[in-house]
Amino acid sequence: MIALYPGSFDPIHLGHVDTVEQAASLFGEVVVAVIHNPEKPSGLFSIDERVALAKTALAHVRGVRVEAFAGLAIDAATSVHANCIVKSARNASDFEIEQQMANTNYSVSGIRTVVMLALPGNSFISSRYIREIAVHGGDVSTLVPANVVAAIRERRK
Ligand code: PNS
Repeated sequence: MIALYPGSFDPIHLGHVDTVEQAASLFGEVVVAVIHNPEKPSGLFSIDERVALAKTALAHVRGVRVEAFAGLAIDAATSVHANCIVKSARNASDFEIEQQMANTNYSVSGIRTVVMLALPGNSFISSRYIREIAVHGGDVSTLVPANVVAAIRERRK
């Protein structure tokens, strides 16, 4: 089975890595789709940089590839012949958003979404706050993979 895991991944964090590990063990093949989210215009990394960072951060997970996509998640899913979309929920607010997106995507495409639960230790991690702390020179090494810590450090030079 092929699962498409769409997101902004700006930057990829330890919660994302956990979701990919969970999805790879369940579905065998996971395509991580880096998609520009117009509601989050103030990016830290370019789409190409996000793809490169995610590839390195996920190199240890078998059956995973990372690609950039433009447009709809359902079109990305169709283009890679995915059997389903995978998303992650950290809490009830995430769940409500994912439920609405999943049902909308299913209604217009017939593609199902599987919502995975973040491990408790990861359920507070958010790219938004990582970006905020990183921009101010803070330490995010407990939240992101080591290659992302290095990329943020490099960006600040
Ligand atoms: O990591 P994010 O920012 O929560 O990911 C959001 C993302 C990229 C998964 C979402 O914005 C998305 O699916 N964008 C593609 C456009 C799309 O499919 N829109 C229809 C939603 S029902």
